[in-house]
Amino acid sequence: MSQITVRGGKPLKGRVDLKGAKNLVTKAMVAAILGDTPSELRDVPHISDVEVVSNLLKLHGVAIDFADDGTMKLDPTNVKSARMVDIDAHAGSSRIPILFCGPLLHQLGEAFIPDLGGCHIGDRPIDFHLDVLRHFGAVIEKQPNGIRMSAPNGLKGAKVSLPYPSVGATEQVLLTSVRAEGLTELSGAAIEPEIMDLIAILQKMGAIISVDTDRVIRIEGVKSLTGFSHRALFDRNEAASWAAAALATHGDIFVGGARQQEMMAFLNVFRKVGGALDIEEDGIRFYHPGGELNPVVIETDVHPGFMTDWQQPLVVALSQAKGLSIIHETVYENRFGFTEALVEMGAQIQIYRECLGGTPCRFGQRNYYHSAVISGPTKLQGADIRVPDLRGGFSHMVAALAAEGTSNVSNVQLISRGYEHFLQKLEDLGADFTYSE
Ligand code: EPZ
Repeated sequence: MSQITVRGGKPLKGRVDLKGAKNLVTKAMVAAILGDTPSELRDVPHISDVEVVSNLLKLHGVAIDFADDGTMKLDPTNVKSARMVDIDAHAGSSRIPILFCGPLLHQLGEAFIPDLGGCHIGDRPIDFHLDVLRHFGAVIEKQPNGIRMSAPNGLKGAKVSLPYPSVGATEQVLLTSVRAEGLTELSGAAIEPEIMDLIAILQKMGAIISVDTDRVIRIEGVKSLTGFSHRALFDRNEAASWAAAALATHGDIFVGGARQQEMMAFLNVFRKVGGALDIEEDGIRFYHPGGELNPVVIETDVHPGFMTDWQQPLVVALSQAKGLSIIHETVYENRFGFTEALVEMGAQIQIYRECLGGTPCRFGQRNYYHSAVISGPTKLQGADIRVPDLRGGFSHMVAALAAEGTSNVSNVQLISRGYEHFLQKLEDLGADFTYSE
């Protein structure tokens, strides 16, 4: 297990450059299975989630060549089935195997998924995915360590309505419907920019997809698809993380590759809190302009709302704002566990079961601590922290960098699931830390 010792209290200043979005790249890699010819994906970050998906693809016979500059070539011409135990061994805690199902059912007529993990930020069930696959005609069989799927009569287009605009379930429909026979109509779809980029990739492959108003996506199935050549959309979650780090540490960070359009909800909040930003052609500069920060009321939501993955590092900055901030988390029922360590460091944060700050959500009147009240400004002190999950972990890192004194942050390798070369980036930004295995 890796650990870093951070000597905090130094503003982060300098430039970081983004690569493609983790939450697009991993799905685009799976989409390559649907093609009859090789694909090329550019701007692929060197993060461990990409490594996990590469290993899973290789296990299924996909040949992968991944260059240092982030160009990945994927050749699916020899795709084959893999055993559940091997998939399980390679999947680690990733939830990605569920998205292999549609493409593998098309190519091979069967697919296996082990019991799935992912960051521990709630139950994270896969019921929407299984329902979707059943609608297309997949036969689902529960086995001792997972699920076997088959499509004895092929997959057929379907009318699907999601009970919640789930990102993963929308991707499931897209990856399954593009080669299913006939028409598919998906209502209640998620429309995150990463999904739009996946649709662009599928269209390059030969798919016919239209995005209508009111979260409706229509797909006309085609018999075969070719490979694609595509530069991945930038990682707006990483961009927001560095922006929050700049604010929390009184710093000044230029995030190369960040774009305004996909981050509007974040930029509004950043500005309301008192952060300054300059939007340039090739990125966005985020900085603390001096003076006091302001409290805000935020509700996390699906796109075009304020993303759930943006709240964790921002909470650290809000602990430095003067007054009470409220965050109502409406996407995951249990995503405030990370605040415990921040409280130990001196932040004043209370979490509540009630829906605070606005619209009642589906977690209200249930036993979920999904609202947080942050009272600031409070001085943060260094502490010993263990990284709990990807975004919570980044938030802890930011707190350690903003705090007075020394912090020992363990389990930091978890952060490399989603942040490429993050220790190098911290060094480039002038952070004072030492790393030990
Ligand atoms: C994606 O997760 C992202 N992960 C998450 O990023 C992100 O937080 C999330 O979308 C929301 O934007 C990847 O893209 C790899 P969902 P996903 O299905 O697709 C419930 C990060 O840190 N649900 O939109 O798994 C679910 O429990 C990560 O980068 C069901 O009930 O999210 C949640 O409450 C973490 N049944 C809500 O829907 C299902 O079958 C939204 O989840 C599926 C989901």
